[in-house]
Amino acid sequence: MLLLPIKYALVIIKYAEGSAVPLLQPLKIGRLLLPHNIMLAPLAGITNLPFRLVCRRQGAALAFTEMVSVNGMVREGEKTKALLASSPEDRPLGVQLFGDDPRTLAQAARMVADQADLLDINMGCPVRKVVSGGAGSALLKDTARIAEIIRAVRGVTQLPLTIKIRSGWQCGDYVYQEVGRIAEAEGCDAITLHPRSRNQMFSGQADWSLLARLKETVAIPVIGSGDLFSADDCYRMLAETGCDGLMIARGALGNPWIFRQARELLSGLAAQPVTPAERSELAEQHLQLQIEIMGEALAVREIKKHLGWYIHGVPGAATLRRTVNTAQTADQLRSLLSHLAQNGADQSGA
Ligand SMILES: Cc1cc2nc3c(=O)[nH]c(=O)nc-3n(C[C@H](O)[C@H](O)[C@H](O)COP(=O)(O)O)c2cc1C
Repeated sequence: MLLLPIKYALVIIKYAEGSAVPLLQPLKIGRLLLPHNIMLAPLAGITNLPFRLVCRRQGAALAFTEMVSVNGMVREGEKTKALLASSPEDRPLGVQLFGDDPRTLAQAARMVADQADLLDINMGCPVRKVVSGGAGSALLKDTARIAEIIRAVRGVTQLPLTIKIRSGWQCGDYVYQEVGRIAEAEGCDAITLHPRSRNQMFSGQADWSLLARLKETVAIPVIGSGDLFSADDCYRMLAETGCDGLMIARGALGNPWIFRQARELLSGLAAQPVTPAERSELAEQHLQLQIEIMGEALAVREIKKHLGWYIHGVPGAATLRRTVNTAQTADQLRSLLSHLAQNGADQSGA
């Protein structure tokens, strides 16, 4: 018999009585209907095609490219275009754009329209290089510009359109509600909030209560981001804030089974711990996808940071990490992964 902690059992009883909405539920963003509401967030340098596929196979309902520079797009930069590499399995795909000029954003939106199932505009990136050009979270200081950008992009595409924001430039300015109203009025189909200010970068805790307030402010779906490191966190964010969906970011690094575990927990089941065999199989699947997509030499270089995350918390992790870092070939990495299958520590998702 399945034993569940009392708080989950109570929610399931409430579902049965029809008095509460199940937490795992379909999500409609404009014309895009997702089978459920757990997504992979955009992560610069990380959410490339192989990683997106690994997360999708674990159940992510939607995945995003990393943020793509619209200036790079319109200059036809090869590196920028490479960020859009995708495949038929990689759907539905959210393409995230960043920039500060409404016309350039609209031009780039037209250019990527055939590759995207949804367009997102980054209004939250806190990195100096991005904000110094007026993009990312710098836009939160100029709400008139936000309105112009959304209007310009909305004017050139029927694709589902979303924005991803932080709570404001600095703690206490709380511009997110005003931005939410603007997004809705200008035709956005959903809004994602990472409730930290720009100046907080990644310090402290995300203030999830702001998600509940945004939910009261707008009628379009609100998607939550911030500090989702386990299935239990996902459960709590949806239950505590009433937000419509969530995006997992750092919590997916070396831990893509979080999507499986979150779906289990949110549908009223117990989240099954990852086994050493599953951990090793997934890391190997990730390596194989990298090789198929980018060739062995680049794949071996690129996968090392991921393997560092996959072995986090495993007995002997420090030694394993040194071996990973000195490996030159995929076969060397594979033999290390078979070692992981025998020695990996169990990790509970709940
Ligand atoms: C390394 C890294 C890269 C990121 N890149 C992007 C990005 O390209 N676009 C974006 O909107 N957010 C980006 N984010 C923010 C995440 O999508 C997410 O909103 C944030 O990490 C909060 O979620 P978490 O606390 O669950 O990680 C990035 C975060 C990290 C740590």
